Amino acid sequence: MVVLSTSPVCNQTACNAVGIPVIDLSRPRPDVSRIIVEACKEFGFFKVINHGVSKTLMEQMENTAREFFSLPAQEKEKAGPPTPLGYGVRNIGFNGDVGELEYLLLHANPSFIHHKAKVISKEPSFFSYVVNEYVGAVRHLSCEILDMLAEGLKLRNTKAFSTLLSDLESDSLLRINHYPPWNKNNNLSMNGNKCGSTRIGFGEHSDPQIISVLRSNDVEGLQILMSDPGGNSVWAPVAPDPDAFFINVGDLLQAMTNGRLLSVRHRAMANSHEARQSIIFFGAPPLHSLISPLPDMVSPADPRKYNPFTWSEYKKTMYQLRLSHSRLDLFQADEPQENNSLD
Ligand code: OGA
Ligand code: NI
Repeated sequence: MVVLSTSPVCNQTACNAVGIPVIDLSRPRPDVSRIIVEACKEFGFFKVINHGVSKTLMEQMENTAREFFSLPAQEKEKAGPPTPLGYGVRNIGFNGDVGELEYLLLHANPSFIHHKAKVISKEPSFFSYVVNEYVGAVRHLSCEILDMLAEGLKLRNTKAFSTLLSDLESDSLLRINHYPPWNKNNNLSMNGNKCGSTRIGFGEHSDPQIISVLRSNDVEGLQILMSDPGGNSVWAPVAPDPDAFFINVGDLLQAMTNGRLLSVRHRAMANSHEARQSIIFFGAPPLHSLISPLPDMVSPADPRKYNPFTWSEYKKTMYQLRLSHSRLDLFQADEPQENNSLD
């Protein structure tokens, strides 16, 4: 495992300094494939640099998002209530989860974005242009990463994951989270400890889709759940890097790889003094896609761990559960199955 950077130390209980894998995508492809697989097996999470997405586009997307959140409440509400797509404040999902944030959740499909732009932006064609370009760039990056993962896993079909995201009916989403400072008057020196002045922004969860690509402004807040050398779970703060993307494995990728890659549990903290803004592309299959451990991932030594399910069934289950539920467990095969994997 190549670990090039270490996150900052945080004094909060159960919050440790841990190295997050940093993967340079300009390195030779076989090396990158190997390192990505290792990172996804060990952490389900890594950071990419030299990813090829233009800095101008990243900044345009960030500014467009910031402008949206600076609108008066009644303008933002024109995006519609979060059902689940739309504009939400504090409430996440349908089951009582709350956090210190507001968000805009969009379908990543261009016609959806075009339609929403007309109701939420004073410059709808610019809004659509920026969001669609950004979605195109991060979808492309996701597909590249998924193809390299498939190569590293030695799958016969190296497009097994990426075809689901490039499908015209892909149910991928774009989520923009804004964590306003909850106490602007707080001075930073509270016990000299920045981590002490945080609140839950977005509670512990795993992302349900295949892959997530997150980019944030320069404000910390993201934490991932890891095991320390003693086997205890610890929250590891991830240092922000607006020039990079953070990639995490989602539940469907864990299921398709028969549990080899880990859908990482993570959360975001809101702090008292600075606004964090994050933009996440969630790469998902079409609703009717049947998800099952791939045949290459199943063998007598590695019997099938999950029952087949459609993405639509998975979403339906998820909407009935709290954010922190380990919902993939509900789809575990009762008895590990040897030979009846589905393609
Ligand atoms: C999410 C998420 C983290 C963040 O929206 O699924 O994990 O930093 N967000 O906003
Ligand atoms: Ni998430």
